[in-house]
Amino acid sequence: MDIEKAVCVITGAGRGIGAVLATRLASQGAIVYAADIDTSTCPDDTHPVTCDVSDEGAVAALFAQVVADQGRLDILVNNAGIVRDGLLVKARDGQLTKMPLAEFRQVIDVNVIGTFLCAREAAALMIRSDGGVIVNVSSVSRAGNVGQTNYSASKAGVDAMTVTWSKELSRHGIRVAAVAPGYTNTEMVAAVPEAILDKITARVPLGRLAAAEEIVDAIEFIIGNDFFTGRVLEIDGGLRL
Ligand SMILES: NC(=O)c1ccc[n+]([C@@H]2O[C@H](COP(=O)([O-])OP(=O)(O)OC[C@H]3O[C@@H](n4cnc5c(N)ncnc54)[C@H](O)[C@@H]3O)[C@@H](O)[C@H]2O)c1
Repeated sequence: MDIEKAVCVITGAGRGIGAVLATRLASQGAIVYAADIDTSTCPDDTHPVTCDVSDEGAVAALFAQVVADQGRLDILVNNAGIVRDGLLVKARDGQLTKMPLAEFRQVIDVNVIGTFLCAREAAALMIRSDGGVIVNVSSVSRAGNVGQTNYSASKAGVDAMTVTWSKELSRHGIRVAAVAPGYTNTEMVAAVPEAILDKITARVPLGRLAAAEEIVDAIEFIIGNDFFTGRVLEIDGGLRL
């Protein structure tokens, strides 16, 4: 897939990995729709669209706008994601604290349902044109990570949907793949206390966080390689959870 003049939707493009990706693709001549709940910091050279990916109506409106403006869609990157970390049941000083159902649901709503809703609209548009590429953003936590019942379940779900859609959509010329980043230096990780972050990086064979640019390199590889589909590209500094 050539990036120049490609029509792209990137979710969660207001900051972090999504914003770096949006800037990168736009600098190569792509037409980028940067979808986020907060568009105030979406990169300048994009079309910012306010959209909560977990809202079916908002997602339909996003893709309707893209097709009304451009007549087609070539690339979707399902990057929007959230964490609501906590133990399933925390036991301290005789007190038990359970993970709230609302926090489990929030993460599933954005990471799984948001990915589903955007991919469904994108695939419907791509089937009507010449195909396209869908890249989902998973995580090293897909393997199961302490304190991330909700997030790990959501990213394992993203992986399963990736493989399923690659099988269903290849006949329409649509490739579907994912990246599974390790801990990356964005605001998502900025909330983690420094002492915990030190413990995390000590477990990473390369001994550091990823830069968002390095994750974007992997997404760009998937977009550009026409024989890559149905696989999750791990880019985690060698970390195994
Ligand atoms: N940072 C990491 O360590 C790391 C590691 C592995 C995977 N990831 C994944 O990479 C992706 C990007 O993460 P990041 O580190 O750039 O995070 P981030 O928190 O810096 O940025 C996420 C962006 O998504 C937007 N967003 C949140 N909820 C949304 C919604 N409902 N609809 C639309 N937009 C929404 C936020 O406003 C924000 O701009 C996520 O899917 C995340 O799970 C991140």
